[in-house]
Amino acid sequence: MAKRTLVTAALPYANGPLHLGHLAGAYLPADLFVRFQRLKGNDIVFICGSDEHGVPITLAAEKEGVTPQDIVDRFHQINKDAFEQFGISFDYFGRTSSETHKKTSQDFFKTLLEKDVFVQKSEQQLYDAKADMFLPDRYVKGTCPVCGFDEAYGDQCEKCGTSLSPSELKNPKSVLTGDIPELRETSHWFLPLGDFQPWLDEWIGGKSDWKQNVIGQCKSWLKSGLSDRAVTRDLRWGVPVPVEGSEGKVLYVWFDAPIGYISTTKEWAQERGNPDEWKTYWQDSDSRLLHFIGKDNIVFHCIMFPSMLKAHGDFVIPDNVPANEFLNLEGKKLSTSRGWAVWLHEYLENFEPDYLRYVLGTTLPETKDSDFSWKDFQTRSNSELADILGNFLFRTLSFTDRYFDGQVPELSNPDSQINEVLKQIMSLKDNIENAYEKFQFREAIQLSMNLARLGNKYFTEMEPWHLRKNDLQKCGDVLHVCLQISAAISIIFDPITPKKMEQLRASLGITEFSFDTIQKQMLKPGTKITQGEILFKKIEDQQVEQQLEKLEKTTKAASPTLEEEQNWPEIKAETDYPSFMTNDLRTGKIIEAEKVAKSKKLLKLSVDLGFETRTIVSGIAEFFTPEEVLGKKVVIVANLAPRKIMNIESQGMILMAQNNDQTLKLVESHGEPGSPIS
Ligand code: 2FM
Ligand code: ZN
Repeated sequence: MAKRTLVTAALPYANGPLHLGHLAGAYLPADLFVRFQRLKGNDIVFICGSDEHGVPITLAAEKEGVTPQDIVDRFHQINKDAFEQFGISFDYFGRTSSETHKKTSQDFFKTLLEKDVFVQKSEQQLYDAKADMFLPDRYVKGTCPVCGFDEAYGDQCEKCGTSLSPSELKNPKSVLTGDIPELRETSHWFLPLGDFQPWLDEWIGGKSDWKQNVIGQCKSWLKSGLSDRAVTRDLRWGVPVPVEGSEGKVLYVWFDAPIGYISTTKEWAQERGNPDEWKTYWQDSDSRLLHFIGKDNIVFHCIMFPSMLKAHGDFVIPDNVPANEFLNLEGKKLSTSRGWAVWLHEYLENFEPDYLRYVLGTTLPETKDSDFSWKDFQTRSNSELADILGNFLFRTLSFTDRYFDGQVPELSNPDSQINEVLKQIMSLKDNIENAYEKFQFREAIQLSMNLARLGNKYFTEMEPWHLRKNDLQKCGDVLHVCLQISAAISIIFDPITPKKMEQLRASLGITEFSFDTIQKQMLKPGTKITQGEILFKKIEDQQVEQQLEKLEKTTKAASPTLEEEQNWPEIKAETDYPSFMTNDLRTGKIIEAEKVAKSKKLLKLSVDLGFETRTIVSGIAEFFTPEEVLGKKVVIVANLAPRKIMNIESQGMILMAQNNDQTLKLVESHGEPGSPIS
């Protein structure tokens, strides 16, 4: 068991506000974990900050006609405030534009340079002469060499999911000037990840306690072999490469951002007046490092950053990376560009943070993608927070106030039923601790609510309102037990709904507490309690309807034609029967399906055509898991010329229907495998 823990949460890009997906991916689980560890009295530091470099920032600045500094200043503050209001309890929230960060990441780079870790290579890269700059990934658009989509970006084709480099695009155009870029020679430093492969294989291979989704992604990267990764870019915004003669070059954002975890820990230590304290967290082998991230960041935190840390040699490497999957909204993928998102600062205009912390906490995408819906938000808030937790606390406190003069009654006859109830507090406590330690926050929250369920059921069954009239002593015993449960709740729910629990503890007069002070008898008889207010009020239908309307409005504003007029594409130019009949459509049954490594969008399918089995690579991974398509009978174009996608020969194409919201649906067939469709 490590002596101390450093928890990091992915540094959010300071190019836009935060939404629910961010909270569910990294920040809420990290905060639940940290708050729990603090309750346990463990030594833990929680670090985060704004990721202020990289192309997303410069592109946002170009779009608005302001400087990158303006953009990061604005969003650093907005995001910092939103985190604070949601009670995300960072010990320090820094920013990668700080001087400490610049020096730390430059020193890191220089150490790797001195240790001869990098490979320096010259390459031809796209250059926009009018803008006088090289064009990194998203600064170039063009035709995808794989699927022919003509709005593909220089780093990835959004249509087929293939990872690209800008020079692979056909008909490239500069996003800045619209000009056709020229190729120019430029030199960069690369991290030869292949050199780290044997160490990574062994290191990741030994991680039996990591989440399956994380191990799976790492193994598929490792299986497909690691290549050199450029760690510098020709850009004007970023940490300058600390090598003479490399003006105009900066560190690649994914090189400097994770080093931000180190530099913000340094700043935290400086702020505490103990500037060397950061070293105990980063350089002492008794410290464990945990990275909370979303699944799109796994490769950087499990392969690239650990390789950098290993190469450097002075720092601990991550102990665990409990990455989450994605959160969907109302059954659809979150999309900031299509306005399909709930922004945290907007949520706060209408609701209190603890409701969302609870509801999101119960639906975290821990093992697979999960969904947030406003209806579910209302149901859980009303039937769990208000009807179970809030109701139990209100009944207990108001009854004590009214009939026991606001004082905890004596426990005069601890019969077997009472002992059983008190015992259950302790067994729930152990199970909750176990769930937190395993990063199973949904489970921890559900078990916490079970404690309130236990209390509510006991109160109802014991009917203290009757006992009061015919057995006052028994009535006092019942209230004594309910107050002990309330006290346990005020601590157990602290990581989940911290603001509300602070209020509750004030009512119960609890000032000193820790997870281990939860006992069968926490409140001494005679302790004065105050009734307080109703902690959780119900969410009205109208409030939820307003949110749904707002969501519809913002989506329409972002893509006005999309939903309004059933914006189906124009019918294509006329064709004739013989031409159409040259397409050979067949029924095929999907008998194997797996994700294609290094691609978010591609699935590799084996399709049974009755007389033969084909391999087909299809860009549907964002809409279907392999398990969902397995066994489906679909329509395939059987005489399409084979083509290579991500080095796999695809022998046909699967027909799909594309909805207005860009989701894909399978076109299914009821024929036998191999049957012609015409
Ligand atoms: O995906 C993102 O939002 C990145 N800015 C996360 C960076 S995490 C860390 F490495 F800094
Ligand atoms: Zn493509």
